[in-house]
Amino acid sequence: MSLERRTSGTIDACFHGRSVSLGTFSAKTTERAQELREGLPIASFAAGSQNFDKELDLLVRRLARRGLLEYCLQDLQNNLSQVVIEPQVPEYWPTTPQLSATDVLVLSRFAYMRRRGNEMVLESPRASALFRICDPKIAATIALLSTPQQIKQLSGRDEFCGGELLALLVDCQILFGAASGTGLRSAEGDENLVLWDFHDLLFHTRSMEGRHANPSGGLYQSAHIMAALPAVRPPWPGTKIDLKAAHSEEISTTAQLLRRRHSTRSFDDQRPINATELSRFLDASARVLATWSGREFGNSGPTVAHTVRPYPSAGASYELELYLSIDKCEGLGRGFFHYDAGEHALARIEVATRELEALLVAAKSAMGASSVPQVLITIAARFGRMSWKYSSIAYALILKDVGALMQTFYMMATEMGLGACAIGTADIELFAKMTGIQFHIEGPVGQFAIGSSTNRAIPTQDLTRSSRTRSGE
Ligand SMILES: Cc1cc2nc3c(=O)[nH]c(=O)nc-3n(C[C@H](O)[C@H](O)[C@H](O)COP(=O)(O)O)c2cc1C
Repeated sequence: MSLERRTSGTIDACFHGRSVSLGTFSAKTTERAQELREGLPIASFAAGSQNFDKELDLLVRRLARRGLLEYCLQDLQNNLSQVVIEPQVPEYWPTTPQLSATDVLVLSRFAYMRRRGNEMVLESPRASALFRICDPKIAATIALLSTPQQIKQLSGRDEFCGGELLALLVDCQILFGAASGTGLRSAEGDENLVLWDFHDLLFHTRSMEGRHANPSGGLYQSAHIMAALPAVRPPWPGTKIDLKAAHSEEISTTAQLLRRRHSTRSFDDQRPINATELSRFLDASARVLATWSGREFGNSGPTVAHTVRPYPSAGASYELELYLSIDKCEGLGRGFFHYDAGEHALARIEVATRELEALLVAAKSAMGASSVPQVLITIAARFGRMSWKYSSIAYALILKDVGALMQTFYMMATEMGLGACAIGTADIELFAKMTGIQFHIEGPVGQFAIGSSTNRAIPTQDLTRSSRTRSGE
């Protein structure tokens, strides 16, 4: 990454062929900013410190907010890096909570160390930063923390990594205070965290956006190593039974609907979707149709309430919730809403305009569209509803439920002549900010865009056609 000053006085951060403006700064700050290449002591950014420079502080905070800074713990005697901290969420800033020698610490059950290239990294889906461990002795101390350790016991050891690192790891929830002397599952976090399996929380945070800094999306990272797999699987050898003659060419209305279904990424903004259409769409695809209760564990367990809805759900969990970002819908104002599937009502949630805009713009860029969708449905999961019952498979089941719901949406949109497009990703950190709900309690697992189609009238002959060609959408 490089920092470049434009003639207008703005400083741009340039990386991976992109440039991001950081604002207007004086020539002196631009010059001092170049010192960041070698590193500046973090203490100089504490307000009140001797070298505190307000403008440089602003620039550094803006770089940090975009995840463009690394923080290095240095062995000053030998001028060697011991640990380098890589932020994973935009707002990370290293913080060292006060620890005392008698505090007992233990590793989070979500923390893990692994090789990345030629480096050892310590990470956790709960952590807002990743720790590159440059000194194997530090890795050894961290391994000791698989059982609770008093800080004063650790500090007596030759390979002690220093209290500052322990505090940084506590701040990132890689270590936590084991007050009761146990580091077991129930001792860490709130009652919602207990419900998560290690691999599920890791999969969730790494496969959605917002809580990691890894390359993500259609980047064709293996295109130079191998060709794409064929679109249709090469046939198995042996004789084949031709099914073409097994049924008539006449197709049912459901089969017609399935064949008409397609993704639409641009909408008719002159005649946007209206409140009646949106209400019909949600009523038909996602509304609670009935409630029932049943006893769990083969009738000997607690009674659990369930619902009946138009789409299937593993274990009748119905853990998915719909949040609507409305940009354009006749009869409804722009805003962010929760769909109350029981009441068939929309509850407005007050959010900052720039957050609503960020969600819509991210959906637009995920679709490669020229404008934001008229209505963006963020499909969120109440994770605990599924993981209270299912171990090892909870998150996988949630994603399968998302697939079932997406197809239900597609079918209803097709029937109504609306445009629709599934979106595989969402920013879980942004959603947490908008709703005030922590990312491990309820969060996005997929999105779906709908709006009025630019091609509302469907030619009759299209309804009966047994194959279709693409319009290039
Ligand atoms: C789980 C899932 C995620 C998808 N994510 C995106 C996406 O992020 N952006 C996009 O433009 N289309 C997305 N799509 C739409 C697919 O690109 C589309 O279904 C596929 O190209 C086939 O085209 P069709 O839907 O028109 O038949 C997604 C579809 C599914 C099922």
